[in-house]
Parts: sequence; C-alpha cells; structure tokens
Amino acid sequence: MLLKDKVCIIVGAASLRGIGYATAELFAEHGARIVAVDVVMNEEIAAEIKASINQKTGLDADVVGVKCDIGNYADCRKLVGETLARHGRIDCLVNSAAIVKSQSLLAIEEADFDRIVNVNLKGAFNLSKSALEVFSEQKSGVIVNVASVAAQRGGGLVGGAHYAASKGGVISLTRTIAREFGPRGIRANVVSPSMTETGMLDGNMSAEKYQEIVSAIPLQRAGHARDIAGACLFLASDLAAYVTGATIDVNGGSHIH
Ligand SMILES: NC(=O)c1ccc[n+]([C@@H]2O[C@H](COP(=O)([O-])OP(=O)(O)OC[C@H]3O[C@@H](n4cnc5c(N)ncnc54)[C@H](O)[C@@H]3O)[C@@H](O)[C@H]2O)c1
Repeated sequence: MLLKDKVCIIVGAASLRGIGYATAELFAEHGARIVAVDVVMNEEIAAEIKASINQKTGLDADVVGVKCDIGNYADCRKLVGETLARHGRIDCLVNSAAIVKSQSLLAIEEADFDRIVNVNLKGAFNLSKSALEVFSEQKSGVIVNVASVAAQRGGGLVGGAHYAASKGGVISLTRTIAREFGPRGIRANVVSPSMTETGMLDGNMSAEKYQEIVSAIPLQRAGHARDIAGACLFLASDLAAYVTGATIDVNGGSHIH
C-alpha cells in the first residue's frame, strides 16, 4: 500500500468514467482516505462513487463526497477547512477538474475565454493556495495538477487556444509552487495526459478524428483513465520523494520531446 491512511483530496471526481474517479479508486486501493470533490457532487453521486470503489477494491474504503466550484476561492477554502476538521490533516491534493471547448481561436468570445481560464487555471490556483496554507503549517504535502498535452504541443486535439493556454498556466503555476514550497517539504508536479477515453471526449471528437489520432500514437491506443491515475499515484507516494516541479507525460508516446 503506497498511501496507507493518507488523506487525499481528489478534485474532478464525479464521473465514474473520469480520471479523477480512477485516481480515487486507485488511491483507495492503496489505503488512502478519499475526499472526492466536484462541482456537481451530491449525496447520490458520492454514494455511487463509494459503492463503485468498494466493489472494485473489495474494501470498505473511507470516501466522502464534497461539492466545490474550484473557480470560487471561498469554496476551495471551505473544502480544505472541512477536510482538516474531518481528518486532522491533508496529505495530498490531486486537481483533475477542468472544462474544455473545441473552438478555433477566432470563434473564442471573451466569455468563453474567461469561463475556461476561471475553472482550469484560476481553479488550480484557488485549490493550490488553499491546500498550501495547510501544507505550510504541516511542513508536508503533495500537489498533483492534471494538465494536458495541448499545453505542450500547441493544442490541436481537444479544446481550443483558451484550453491549451489554461493548461500551460497550470504547468507554470505548479513549477512555481515546487520552487517556492520545496524548502517547506512540499512537492508539486504535473501529469500531462493526451487523448484519454473519458466523458471529456463526448461531443468534442468525431469518430474519424479519434481514429486519425490513435493511428499516429506509438502505443496505438487512446489513454485509459487508469493510465493517468497510475502517474498520479506515483507522484503522490513516497516513491516520488525527490520529484518536484516535474511534468510526467502520459501520452502513449504521442508527444515525445
Ligand atoms: N480526456 C482527455 O482526453 C484529456 C486529455 C488531456 C487532459 N485531460 C485533463 O484530465 C482532467 C480530467 O478530465 P476527464 O477526462 O476525466 O474529464 P471529466 O469531464 O470526466 O472530468 C472533469 C471533471 O471536472 C469537473 N468540473 C468542471 N468544472 C468544475 C468546477 N468549476 N469545480 C469543480 N469541478 C469541476 C466536472 O464536473 C468533471 O467531473 C482534466 O483536467 C482534463 O483537462 C483530459
């Protein structure tokens, strides 16, 4: 067990097909106490997540669901405060929440740009800042932010320039956190997936485009949510005790750089 009794906040975890949920499931398998967070979280979804994790792992996992809009700083502080009150400490924050819209640059209106950046980049900042207040006191803690290959290769798969730029911001933000908070025993890293089979592709990718992309991937398939979760597990665990400021590509070799 790589995360025995570690208190892990996993954000963007409402969909059983998503990367956040897959991370919650894998972390629970490794003994973590899970706070599953999403803007659409409610009692029903939380119960569904817990039941699914228990069924997959054969454990009676410690899982709670919390509703939080990461674009709202007060919500993020409340999430962190409630988690601290419940568990007494926080060991890890995984931020996998994001929104995407496939648009060419000239079609992006100011409101589209603001919406994407407010969730993807400001949300990562809001969550990170809230967690870092606790991590600084504890002198320990790990942040894993999920970005996207779109930030590294100049978009062009799922999502427009606003999405790619927001994810580039997430990488820069995470690197800055790693440098500033390393001396306080805190690590911060990025996982950068490419096309992954989750609800995020629904309506954003034609069957032809999907096949075209898959045929150009050295490992000849799209990513599975669990592939991304594996990298998050590594970074959250002590196996990565000397890894900070890194961006781990989980892209099947589709972007080798
Ligand atoms: N699926 C892909 O092809 C792909 C590729 C590269 C990167 N990613 C990244 O992986 C991460 C996970 O995405 P996914 O594929 O699992 O999709 P997903 O849509 O299942 O997960 C995103 C989750 O974020 C939640 N969310 C949206 N706005 C929020 C807000 N304001 N506050 C809190 N939660 C909010 C959604 O409700 C959703 O459950 C995202 O950061 C995404 O950008 C995905």
